[in-house]
Amino acid sequence: MVQLTLPKNSKLSKGKTWPATSSGAQMKTFKIYRFDPSDGGGPRWDTYQIDLDECGPMVLDALFKIKNEIDPSLSFRRSCREGVCGSCAMNIGGRNTLACTKGIDELGSGAITISPLPHMPVVRDLVPDLSTFYAQYASIEPWLHTSEAETEKEFKQSVEDRDKLNGLYECILCASCSTSCPSYWWNGDRYLGPAALLQAYRWLIDSRDEATTERLDALEDPFKLYRCHTIMNCTNVCPKGLNPAKAIAQVKKMMVERA
Ligand code: SF4
Ligand code: FES
Repeated sequence: MVQLTLPKNSKLSKGKTWPATSSGAQMKTFKIYRFDPSDGGGPRWDTYQIDLDECGPMVLDALFKIKNEIDPSLSFRRSCREGVCGSCAMNIGGRNTLACTKGIDELGSGAITISPLPHMPVVRDLVPDLSTFYAQYASIEPWLHTSEAETEKEFKQSVEDRDKLNGLYECILCASCSTSCPSYWWNGDRYLGPAALLQAYRWLIDSRDEATTERLDALEDPFKLYRCHTIMNCTNVCPKGLNPAKAIAQVKKMMVERA
């Protein structure tokens, strides 16, 4: 699954093996993608060893231990440590997921490889440039469109209509799905990708929204929606257990039904 977008004229080299700061019965090896655009060198795989008896259980705990005790220059994003903010998404053991909810013991006995989300340009180390991803999210206008722009009253929704948003509103925009999708790798500038399309569907079926026609018009495009080829990587990797492929299929169905 991993497809890294490398800086121009560079290829991944072996990198440095960092000495462990302690030794114990449960030593674990981590191979981590490193790239610093300011040092003039290309990307590399650095190797770290840590004692799991002195580390928390999650991959994010291991990254903190490496940064705090071995190599302070290692860069990665994180905030909530609870699988809520989506900022720690990265490729761990060949699969996109959240570092804060992925247990080290889930990854087998060998070395654990960690790289940035595939395909995206790399800002530094495990930090991808998600500018295009966020611009695509903004393009689906993720807010309520109503004719009553300014009002103090509630927009009421039946229990049944609210239930339709389950399986959609939980998306934390981690980008694991979009960056695991080959169609998004190949046409990421024009195909909106599974995350933005799941969000588009969330607003399309919101009973309070009055812009269904305009939202569908905006998606009626050979690339934005129809580059989904039901490869299903998105649904397979979503760390929140959501089903972007199904949401995309529902948007396509809405397109057919209105034709
Ligand atoms: S659908 Fe899942 S994988 Fe995709 S952005 Fe939302 S939470 Fe992340
Ligand atoms: S740190 Fe927020 S989802 Fe992992």
